[in-house]
Amino acid sequence: MIPIIRKQNMPSGAIFSLLLALTIHQTLTADVPPTVVAVETSSPPASPVTPGPPEQGSYNVTNATDAVCLLARMGLQLNISFISSSHGKTVQEVLNLHPNLVKSSGSCDLDSATLVLSEDNINLTFSFSLNTTSNKYHLGGLELSAALPDMAKGLVFRNTTLNYMVGTLGHSYMCQKEKILSITQDFSLNTFQLQVQPFVVNGDFGAAEECDLDEDDMLIPIIVGAALAVLVLIVILAYLIGRNRSHAGYQTI
Ligand SMILES: *[C@@H]1O[C@H](CO)[C@@H](O)[C@H](O)[C@H]1NC(C)=O
Ligand SMILES: *[C@@H]1O[C@H](CO)[C@@H](O)[C@H](O)[C@H]1NC(C)=O
Ligand SMILES: *[C@@H]1O[C@H](CO)[C@@H](O)[C@H](O)[C@H]1NC(C)=O
Ligand SMILES: *[C@@H]1O[C@H](CO)[C@@H](O)[C@H](O)[C@H]1NC(C)=O
Ligand SMILES: *[C@@H]1O[C@H](CO)[C@@H](O)[C@H](O)[C@H]1NC(C)=O
Ligand SMILES: *[C@@H]1O[C@H](CO)[C@@H](O)[C@H](O)[C@H]1NC(C)=O
Repeated sequence: MIPIIRKQNMPSGAIFSLLLALTIHQTLTADVPPTVVAVETSSPPASPVTPGPPEQGSYNVTNATDAVCLLARMGLQLNISFISSSHGKTVQEVLNLHPNLVKSSGSCDLDSATLVLSEDNINLTFSFSLNTTSNKYHLGGLELSAALPDMAKGLVFRNTTLNYMVGTLGHSYMCQKEKILSITQDFSLNTFQLQVQPFVVNGDFGAAEECDLDEDDMLIPIIVGAALAVLVLIVILAYLIGRNRSHAGYQTI
């Protein structure tokens, strides 16, 4: 009888020790990051060419009667390719906008709104359009004019037939994760922690309409949660079955 009871208790015992091992492993790995960070700070910057994620900036546009008509907060990174005057060949340059150095301006109309961000040798213009029939807005145009030190002459990258940041009037468009917006062959805009609301703004951002990237991201915690729930259920079931069987075993004696 004893060996059988031991055998039946084995599975739940094994799962419990597995869970214990997992929690120990997790607490151990949770202690690791500080050392990693320490290593990173003590080592020289990895690559001056690709900067880290850009800082998030807040930009407002007011209309003719001083009412805020466009709200935006976002981190922006430009990725441009151009012919370097010092290298004589095409180079790729990735640069971040620095919110504390950026001057913002813009204008609002009934069905169009612009936001202009200027920093040093860069002007970046966002053009939003509103469809007054469907009450949907979108980023229809983007223009970058840049005169970087390594450019032989100032360059303009422009696309007026875009369809990004589609939202409903009175709502904001939000995309927390990095999103790469292809503008022209030689220019893409990487956005980070973005929330914009052109046109009707009532003091603050309206309810957010999240981009598909953020929605996909929600799947991971859901899957992990479901897997954990199933695991807990298995452990409980194994425990109950094990207990019932051993009780039954005793009763037959
Ligand atoms: C934008 O407007 C909000 C509220 O209307 C204000 O709190 C914030 O400071 C403004 N930001 C800028 C950069 O003007
Ligand atoms: C500015 O925006 C406010 C609020 O949306 C609106 O009532 C006002 O008519 C606008 N002014 C102009 C000149 O468009
Ligand atoms: C910049 O654009 C180039 C070419 O499209 C791409 O290969 C590279 O990964 C981009 N870099 C960043 C940081 O977005
Ligand atoms: C505005 O939306 C309506 C309805 O969705 C559509 O039929 C129309 O073509 C749109 N207008 C523009 C200028 O995009
Ligand atoms: C940015 O715009 C300002 C004002 O319109 C202008 O003086 C400046 O030359 C522009 N810079 C570039 C790089 O186009
Ligand atoms: C503008 O963007 C659209 C959509 O992303 C693209 O199909 C088109 O080729 C772009 N135009 C230019 C001039 O790059």
